[in-house]
Amino acid sequence: MSNPKILITGGAGFIGSHVVRRFVRNYPNYSIYNLDKLTYAGNLMNLKDIEDEPNYTFIKADIVDDAHILELFQEHQFDGVVHLAAESHVDRSISNPTEFIRTNVLGTVNLLNAAKAIWAGSMEGKRFYHISTDEVYGSLGDTGFFTEETKYDPRSPYSASKASSDHLVRAYFHTFDLPVVLSNCSNNYGSFHFPEKLIPLAIHNIKTNKPIPVYGKGDNIRDWLFVEDHAAAIDLIFHKGRLGETYNIGGENEWKNIDLIHKLCEVMDDRLGRAAGTSAQLITFVKDRAGHDHRYAIDCSKLKAEFGWKPSVQFEEGLAKTVDWYLSNQVWLDGVTSGDYQKYYELQYEKR
Ligand code: NAD
Ligand code: DAU
Repeated sequence: MSNPKILITGGAGFIGSHVVRRFVRNYPNYSIYNLDKLTYAGNLMNLKDIEDEPNYTFIKADIVDDAHILELFQEHQFDGVVHLAAESHVDRSISNPTEFIRTNVLGTVNLLNAAKAIWAGSMEGKRFYHISTDEVYGSLGDTGFFTEETKYDPRSPYSASKASSDHLVRAYFHTFDLPVVLSNCSNNYGSFHFPEKLIPLAIHNIKTNKPIPVYGKGDNIRDWLFVEDHAAAIDLIFHKGRLGETYNIGGENEWKNIDLIHKLCEVMDDRLGRAAGTSAQLITFVKDRAGHDHRYAIDCSKLKAEFGWKPSVQFEEGLAKTVDWYLSNQVWLDGVTSGDYQKYYELQYEKR
């Protein structure tokens, strides 16, 4: 197919905006359609630099609206789908699980149904790529890794909704021969990350001299990947991934939350010209997240072996780049932390 039409859902969010940018720039012969509802997490400022490119179109739509989604597929006849749109924050899924079921489960089924309907004549060259998370595998002890064969054991409403959508994507492959591929990735970090998530929230609080809330004792462990490395893996899997397969993506970069926060405080002290140890004084241990998964760690050897992918950005370098991006994008940060963010922050943190 020489001029494919590719639908990217959730392209105004954190990871989606990096994927949209990469596809728009790397594939000038593709028509890239970014479909996004623009929830609190979606922001067209994330794509200012590419919004006028001739191969880019933005569509404001809600994946939960099945009739509208089908109309859009009929109108544009997409050849491929990269599905990232989701409610993505675990803490919000604890306060409002239903919204996660609507968007992550129903929304995914609506996209699957629309793709199935318009590709019914021929599935040749078509592809539905579902982006998922390592959280579907549950929580690890201090050893071991999640492989593609690890049994699903989701433990938060967020991960349960993502697990459910993964199962549905595989069901459409087996039952309807829909040409699908999936990937499950570990924690991302980098630019355009909404400051409800640990790293950007801590950067924002350190900068504004507010407490850095660390859940429990800070001994939970996450495997961090620079977001542009995730976008590179998504590009490879979209083009080369075998149909029906799942690929794990990870940073091979495990950090205990409290150690990560200390590292971040060091970088912030340096960048803000503060004496060593100043920012770390803001660290505040708060009530733990309900059902807090202890450890995530990905075995991404399948992806490495099949496509030669590996994380290219070392954590120290990625963290420094991320801090520098936030410090030089105050307008963006002000835009996303005004209004509703204040209400969210009070509700989430004032009683902890
Ligand atoms: P995000 O919250 O930053 O962005 C989600 C985007 O989806 C937003 O632009 C939002 O407006 C859009 N959206 C939400 N509901 C929608 C709806 N009903 N209709 C249309 N658009 C809607 O999320 P993210 O961190 O960029 O995550 C993107 C995807 O990657 C998600 O599927 C998530 O589960 C997965 N993932 C995220 C991470 C991570 O570390 N952030 C890691 C692994 C997998
Ligand atoms: O593993 C992939 C997942 O990573 C993605 O699927 C999710 O969409 C993404 O949000 C992320 O989930 P986490 O829950 O791991 O990310 P978060 O940034 O919310 O939290 C990271 C760790 O830091 C976790 O152990 C909880 C802790 N934390 C988080 C916040 C927001 C704190 O200690 N304090 C905080 O204020």
